[in-house]
Amino acid sequence: MAVKFVRPKIPKFAPDPWAIQFDDQGHLRHLLTIEGLGPQWITRILDTAEGFVSVTDREIKKVPLLRGRTVVNLFFESSTRTRTTFELAAKRLSADVLNLNLATSATKKGESLLDTLRNIEAMQADMFVVRHEQSGAAHFIARHVAPHVSVLNAGDGWHSHPTQALLDAFTIRRHKGGFTPLRVAIVGDIRHSRVARSQMHVLNSLNVGELRVIAPRTLIPTDVEKLGVRVFHDMREGLQDVDVIIMLRLQRERMESGLLPSEEEFYRLYGLTEEKLAWAKDDAIVMHPGPANRGVEIESSVADGPQSVILEQVSNGIGVRMAVMSLCMSANRGDQT
Ligand code: NCD
Repeated sequence: MAVKFVRPKIPKFAPDPWAIQFDDQGHLRHLLTIEGLGPQWITRILDTAEGFVSVTDREIKKVPLLRGRTVVNLFFESSTRTRTTFELAAKRLSADVLNLNLATSATKKGESLLDTLRNIEAMQADMFVVRHEQSGAAHFIARHVAPHVSVLNAGDGWHSHPTQALLDAFTIRRHKGGFTPLRVAIVGDIRHSRVARSQMHVLNSLNVGELRVIAPRTLIPTDVEKLGVRVFHDMREGLQDVDVIIMLRLQRERMESGLLPSEEEFYRLYGLTEEKLAWAKDDAIVMHPGPANRGVEIESSVADGPQSVILEQVSNGIGVRMAVMSLCMSANRGDQT
């Protein structure tokens, strides 16, 4: 029997559907989405991450902040980078870590999502890191966990991937110093990308100078302008004077057929080649959340070139995830100031 997933019901007149992320004292308890965090919390997470990134540069890469705590990675959808960096982040905070690949586990044998949760809670888990193919899954889990448990969203459907967007903002800030003077372009399959949605929220919250999306019409979500972006369908126009280029993968698994003529055509028009990169500012940085498809959205020499910060994004992901974990756990200890 398939797992029955119930889409969370957001009360019609709720003032802020994302208020669930905070406890009664206004401490950050869950990280489900960027919406509702506001620039202060986002900046606090990025500042906290600065300290943790230096921990990861030390010979002994551990701090005892989560000693005695148990972090459970609940991955209903496969992942390499995100799962492993969450795992490393938890280990570097001295937590015990359990990795559950639920795509092949009890939920497939007919146990409901809530039963699975109760069983894991009975193992005295303190934090769930959740990835699920359904939008709203982490929110649903957050509404049903025991009061001492925190939930971090590691990607839900097309909706949100908050830690990815935060590590991207962190990487941009490290290279460019701030956000207000910057032009940032997100290129590729915007429509199916939870990463793009979270990036738009994070960058607009941080008051980025100009946010652009560049893609064929079929890969742009309807009403994307309402998210505060300028839409371009032409790379030469869209990349002009840009400081940061974020490339995205074609999310084939979420695509109906017929949205694209062919990968070759996409590469010709939108693939970031050295030639197209020259249309952006000389010191523009190139980013990608991974997994990157060389020869589809990015040329190998650009992915490995001097302007690429793709591997730095992966390393920064550890420090940013340590920051989020320690802040949410300190809400539970009651010592967040
Ligand atoms: C992204 C994801 O899973 O949403 N990758 C990631 O977390 N590093 C983007 C993608 O799958 O293309």
